[in-house]
Amino acid sequence: MCGIVGVVSNANVNEKLFNGLSNLEYRGYDSVGMCFVKNSKFTIKKGVGKLEEVHKRVDFLKLNGNIGIGHCRWSTHGGVTEKNAHPHVDCKNKISVVHNGIIENYSELKEELIRKGHKFYSQTDTEVIAHLIEENIMGSNIEEATRAALNKIEGSYALGILYADEPSKLVAARNESPLIVGIGKNENFIASDVPSILSYTNKVIYLDDKEIAVLTKNKLKIFGLDGNEKKKKIHTISWNAEAAKKSGYKHFMLKEIFEQPHAIADTLNERIANNHIVFEKEFSLKEDYLKKIDRIVIVACGTSWHAALVGEFMLEELAKIPTEVEYASEFRYRHPLLDKNTLVIAISQSGETADTIAALKEAKKYGVKTLSICNVMGSSITRISDGVIYTRAGPEIGVASTKAFTTQLAVLYLLTILLSKIRKTLNEKQIKDMIEGIRKIPLQLQSVLDEYDEILKCAELYHHKLNSIYLGRGVNFPIALEGALKLKEVSYIHAEGYPAAEMKHGPIALIDKNMPVVFIAPHDIYTYKKVLGNIEEVKARGGIIIVITTEGDKEITKKAKHIIFIPKTLYTLSSILAVVPLQLLAYHIADKLGHNPDLPKNLAKSVTVE
Ligand code: M6R
Repeated sequence: MCGIVGVVSNANVNEKLFNGLSNLEYRGYDSVGMCFVKNSKFTIKKGVGKLEEVHKRVDFLKLNGNIGIGHCRWSTHGGVTEKNAHPHVDCKNKISVVHNGIIENYSELKEELIRKGHKFYSQTDTEVIAHLIEENIMGSNIEEATRAALNKIEGSYALGILYADEPSKLVAARNESPLIVGIGKNENFIASDVPSILSYTNKVIYLDDKEIAVLTKNKLKIFGLDGNEKKKKIHTISWNAEAAKKSGYKHFMLKEIFEQPHAIADTLNERIANNHIVFEKEFSLKEDYLKKIDRIVIVACGTSWHAALVGEFMLEELAKIPTEVEYASEFRYRHPLLDKNTLVIAISQSGETADTIAALKEAKKYGVKTLSICNVMGSSITRISDGVIYTRAGPEIGVASTKAFTTQLAVLYLLTILLSKIRKTLNEKQIKDMIEGIRKIPLQLQSVLDEYDEILKCAELYHHKLNSIYLGRGVNFPIALEGALKLKEVSYIHAEGYPAAEMKHGPIALIDKNMPVVFIAPHDIYTYKKVLGNIEEVKARGGIIIVITTEGDKEITKKAKHIIFIPKTLYTLSSILAVVPLQLLAYHIADKLGHNPDLPKNLAKSVTVE
């Protein structure tokens, strides 16, 4: 999705805007633009391409002004052209707007504005906002004119607005698209997310839907669309700015893969006390209620949806609670059967995925309790759910989710222990074993990361293959899906994930000597032996067999071309260890093919439109 940033300061803001935009590039990279105000005049530079490419042509750092807005675009309305790049201005070049979101009634508004004599320059929905504010500016200030304009707009927006005749004011507004306000010393900021401004401030206010903020370098006021001023809480962010940098790694994706032992240790920290799981007060769901629930529905998208499938396995197998996993985008458009004993869980790294937000809102209409598992403090999803458990992965910048996924699995595992204990579906010894199992995971993950020569070899040998299949069973079927998704996302190689036994019902037709087939087959009492049979089936058809299995394995070793070992752990935890080699495989294949895995084509980190 698009990223926006804005700064008003007592000094030149060009570097801060530039750095802010470069931290936001994971959100949009079709085109970029900036607008500064100086002596009540705009200077606007924009162009098609990534920030660095456009910067080479226009030199953003040459621009100056103590107030400015910037934008990186992920196109929705209008092609990828310089004209459609933000900022967009009104007819008199006095109002400049950057926008993330979709204005749903833009064609009606545009026709009306054209009838009134406005001239449009781009094909975007955003330009309507600049002209609509222009219509309302006569005799009023920029915040009043913005408020009047927004009252006519339907759809989602995060906006940064400048008015050349009030050059000390930066106006921002939000509805269903993320936007924060950052509070600095003699300067204030707006941004799509926290990491983009974390080098300058860790004090932020999360704007809520239908709120307008008016910032000068020393003042900040927030209003509702009714014009009433609001008091808002200032949050102090605990992430440090270093966490949002590459720290010597070639890409964020690689850095984030290697951060997983630490991220999981942080996610467990202080949540295990003796034989108990203790979540912080935001969890908020009471024991009496947790005893009564008779069903769980989990909503999520993409990688978070894969985490949900692992969660379903854990919750049914151990806590014995019937659990269903729904694509958030589908859930919102059907009429789910929910009653007061159903708990709805939303899983989201960003907490800003539009479909997941909508699914949660849909669930709330039924009066059920909701819980979110989320990585970003204060994000929209956390604010609309009854309870929250934070994953503590730290900022995840790479578009392909890695450490967010494994920390989601860790949280689902802790939640399963808690529910199993409350509902007495496991005895104390079983709980103790589960706790011991997860406590070992950070070190075990480190050992997976310390030895991955075989992955590098596979990446070297197979990066030119056009297809691949990932197969797993039980708790590792979602890991097959996740491995395939990672490969597709960053290397653009077609990949399919299947339950291993399902292969013979169709995908087996694809297998030949050019097809790498990755089996996720750690030792377990349920399916290991069956997977051996599936491996034979692939072998008989000449497929290239790559297997992830448990250290010490003797049987698969004889059948596979490549073996990647993971340490011995409980079956439910094997998914956390098994996914890491798959993340590395996808990363190294993408790197060998010369793709930037941090910014895969067509993808955005958080999908904040429907
Ligand atoms: O922020 P969320 O977890 O809600 O995002 C959901 C998906 O958009 C996300 O997992 C996506 O599939 C990633 N690109 C996966 O790597």
